Amino acid sequence: MTKQIAIAGLCCGLLTVTASGADLDIGKTLALKGNTRGATACQTCHAADGSGNAAAGFPRLSGINAEYLAKQLYDFQHGRRTDPVMQPIAKALSDTEITDVVAYFAAQTSVTAPINKDTVLIARGARLALNGLWDHDIPSCVSCHGPAGQGVGRHFPALAGQHAVYITKQMEAWRSGTRRNDPLDLMKGIAQRMPADDIAAVSAYFASLAPVK
Ligand code: HEC
Ligand code: HEC
Repeated sequence: MTKQIAIAGLCCGLLTVTASGADLDIGKTLALKGNTRGATACQTCHAADGSGNAAAGFPRLSGINAEYLAKQLYDFQHGRRTDPVMQPIAKALSDTEITDVVAYFAAQTSVTAPINKDTVLIARGARLALNGLWDHDIPSCVSCHGPAGQGVGRHFPALAGQHAVYITKQMEAWRSGTRRNDPLDLMKGIAQRMPADDIAAVSAYFASLAPVK
């Protein structure tokens, strides 16, 4: 009898655990409250539903591949990606906490309205994202990030619905070398070859797309 109850308890306790072993309840608590070792509540900047903050350039996390998000937190921990705000927060998270919190955000759905409505700029960004910029040796963004910017697997993050200020900031980070975390330097080369006004256009385009999730 006691054994059966124990098994029943085990069964139901596992309901919030994903295939990767992440506990979504613990992930949610971390997102809403942070931990006691210096990780500030993620929702302060990324919002509880992971929609981020367009004006401040805090990235959307909702619907983005969990393994990609986890890699970013490890990259912040090890200095392959530098940011004065995120590095101390990432360092205050254990491996298990990282697994749990990224699974929580990856499972969220959220919508935000893009702040830039400049249709001429967005149309120019669309041409660039879909066709590339061959006189600068830049392939189309969608060849890696997916035809609708929805992301491909754990290596190529979703860009649809990501905030323009944040996208531009990342391109600048690759140019200046404060982000040096993509193994083949694919993004570094693209960012370095891309004129600033084209970066602004492509950022406005991806921000104008509805997030896939
Ligand atoms: C005080 C604001 C703030 C808080 C709190 C915060 N973040 Fe961030 N986060 C940022 C900023 C700013 C960036 C972008 C940094 C950059 O430009 O590289 C970021 C980037 C990230 C990224 C990279 C996203 C991507 O698409 O590459 C992840 C993952 C992330 N944060 C997770 C978290 C988690 C998990 C928590 C809570 C434990 C958290 N953040 C708390 C501000 C914050
Ligand atoms: C050859 C493949 C490839 C192409 C083409 C490509 N990217 Fe990427 N991109 C990547 C990879 C890989 C990453 C993830 C790097 C990492 O692990 O941090 C990435 C990441 C990004 C990120 C960071 C997203 C985040 O959540 O932090 C942005 C922004 C980005 N790419 C924009 C673009 C734009 C704009 C274009 C077109 C001009 C483009 N990419 C073309 C491979 C590519």
